[in-house]
Amino acid sequence: MRAIGIHEPGTPDALQVVDLPRPAVSEGEVRIRVQAAAVNPTDTILRSGQRDTSGQSLPLVPGMDVAGVLEEIGPGASTTLQVGNAVMGIVVPRGSHGAYAEQVVLPAGSVTAAPRGSSPVEASTLPMNGLTARLALDTLGLPPGSVLAVTGAAGAMGGYAVQLAKADGLTVIADAAEKDEELVVGLGADVVLPRGEEFAARVREQFPDGVDGAVDGAMLHAAVAPALRDGGTVITIRGYDEASERGVRFHPILVADYAREQQKLDTLRQQAEDGVLSLRVAEAVPAEQAPQAHRRLEAGGVRGRLVLTF
Ligand SMILES: NC(=O)c1ccc[n+]([C@@H]2O[C@H](COP(=O)([O-])OP(=O)(O)OC[C@H]3O[C@@H](n4cnc5c(N)ncnc54)[C@H](OP(=O)(O)O)[C@@H]3O)[C@@H](O)[C@H]2O)c1
Repeated sequence: MRAIGIHEPGTPDALQVVDLPRPAVSEGEVRIRVQAAAVNPTDTILRSGQRDTSGQSLPLVPGMDVAGVLEEIGPGASTTLQVGNAVMGIVVPRGSHGAYAEQVVLPAGSVTAAPRGSSPVEASTLPMNGLTARLALDTLGLPPGSVLAVTGAAGAMGGYAVQLAKADGLTVIADAAEKDEELVVGLGADVVLPRGEEFAARVREQFPDGVDGAVDGAMLHAAVAPALRDGGTVITIRGYDEASERGVRFHPILVADYAREQQKLDTLRQQAEDGVLSLRVAEAVPAEQAPQAHRRLEAGGVRGRLVLTF
């Protein structure tokens, strides 16, 4: 089968079309014929060698999001899906197992139906970042009426965090560049403030006691802490967990912890069908154009996801 992989880390041009054996389906797994794979920042981290992949099979195939057609259901796979269904799933890449491939085999719990009415390209933008936003909010565990700050709100994960938080009954204060204000207001944020290092100070002007929690999609890290009330928690997404002042805690999360949470993935599907979540696509490009897609993502400013099609 055709896949996009790297033999060694490097620039976007390290991404090449590779030919791999079709993966076999084992106990509890399902096979998807991939039609779309979203391009996420984590894929660029893998490609550029910033992740330890020693001991993994080569070529390394990036990608954490797929949508396509369910092709095979392995023995003992716990699913109500049927062969031929339009599905979406989250991939935790390891070695040559990644989403940038014509076929992917996943645990049944990582796969659910694609939102009705969505194209595979649209559906592929939801699983990984939707589950990350869900995990962030579940980790915070804020009761309805609490106030949440979201940084990087115009991004894929941040945008889902804003929308899920509103659906959970939270008040959301979000950041945006001037050009993204309309977008972030449209996602449902109650208050939108200019992005950047001054964000926390501006939050305090609106909420003098500080917010109850934060999802730090922009990785402001220590700079976001002053926005928090005493004892508040900041969810971080690349491991940041330094000590802070006033009992403010940094809590790193990893979406892999939710990679088999089929019920949560299916709730995201329902929320997309209900219009609670917007599936935002920047552009769909043929998989062979993965290098260009990585270059565009790394340049910043992409709104909605770039998606590779197979
Ligand atoms: N831990 C996990 O399991 C997990 C899971 C999913 C995602 N992540 C991570 O979460 C982060 C966000 O992912 P994503 O898919 O949402 O990325 P994204 O779509 O690129 O969004 C990031 C957003 O943050 C903005 N931004 C960048 N620097 C900023 C700054 N200094 N102040 C305010 N905003 C800033 C970006 O704007 P510009 O485009 O203008 O730069 C963009 O709108 C990534 O680092 C990703 O790797 C981690």
